[in-house]
Amino acid sequence: MSTTFQLDTATSRANPTPSPMRRLTVPAIRERKQNGVTEDPIVVLTAYTARQAQLLDEHCDILLVGDSLGQVIYGLPSTIPVTLEMMANHAAAVVRGSYHSVVVVDMPFGSYEASPQAAFESAAYLLKQSGAAAVKLEGGEVMAETVAFLNQRGIPVMGHVGLTPQAVNVLGGYSARGRGTAEAEKIITDAKALSDAGAFGIVVEGVVEPIAVELTKAVTCPTIGIGASAQCDGQVLVTEDMLGMFERVPRFVKRYDDIAATISSAAENYAADVRSRTFPGPEQTYQPK
Ligand code: KIV
Repeated sequence: MSTTFQLDTATSRANPTPSPMRRLTVPAIRERKQNGVTEDPIVVLTAYTARQAQLLDEHCDILLVGDSLGQVIYGLPSTIPVTLEMMANHAAAVVRGSYHSVVVVDMPFGSYEASPQAAFESAAYLLKQSGAAAVKLEGGEVMAETVAFLNQRGIPVMGHVGLTPQAVNVLGGYSARGRGTAEAEKIITDAKALSDAGAFGIVVEGVVEPIAVELTKAVTCPTIGIGASAQCDGQVLVTEDMLGMFERVPRFVKRYDDIAATISSAAENYAADVRSRTFPGPEQTYQPK
């Protein structure tokens, strides 16, 4: 399974050629977990742009257009200011850049909490504008009615429990959840309510490991861990975090590269070439025939 590319000579851009593979579906993801067991863990990464999606697509089952784009792309202090339009535009780019993964788009803060009807309007807008297959929303028991409402009207929903960044002003920060008994029980109750309401998957973020394991056993749908446990049914990371784009990352991130150093070094070399007039060289300039 691979994505191939064709060079568009007019723009000098590599475009993915439509490949014969069929895109994974939401039911196929949901069915990975059978009788509480997921033989083939679900691979999820965030993606915000078409080119990023092209590169990640063949390796992933789900590309999540996370509202973390607020901080990662826009330099915002949290996910709170992210708008529906931002999510729709980035999700459309990710759909254009992918052929294989299920594209799931985050519903931004303020676009779904007020009522199931408000959530339907926002989710329908996101799916119509982008072509994504499903939405993700944060919150547990309190969102169960909305999850069922959307699901019954043709919109698959992924839940998100534990550390829910859109609730940062209530939680008071981004520290791990589920350390106390009451909080741990509430996280499991939340996950069960979402699963019973028809969520096809649940992101479990920043939760102490034993709770993540218990929760994964307690729900019928797949759990996708981030700062949770390898025993979740799948894993997600913010792509820029795992690529080493930022100096500071949460403890649960494993860095697979040091892309920040690569970019900085390339820019340094380019600047030196420009200042010494060694760029552009003969290969990059046009001469009369
Ligand atoms: O917004 C996001 O990127 C997310 C993941 C971290 C799960 O919700």
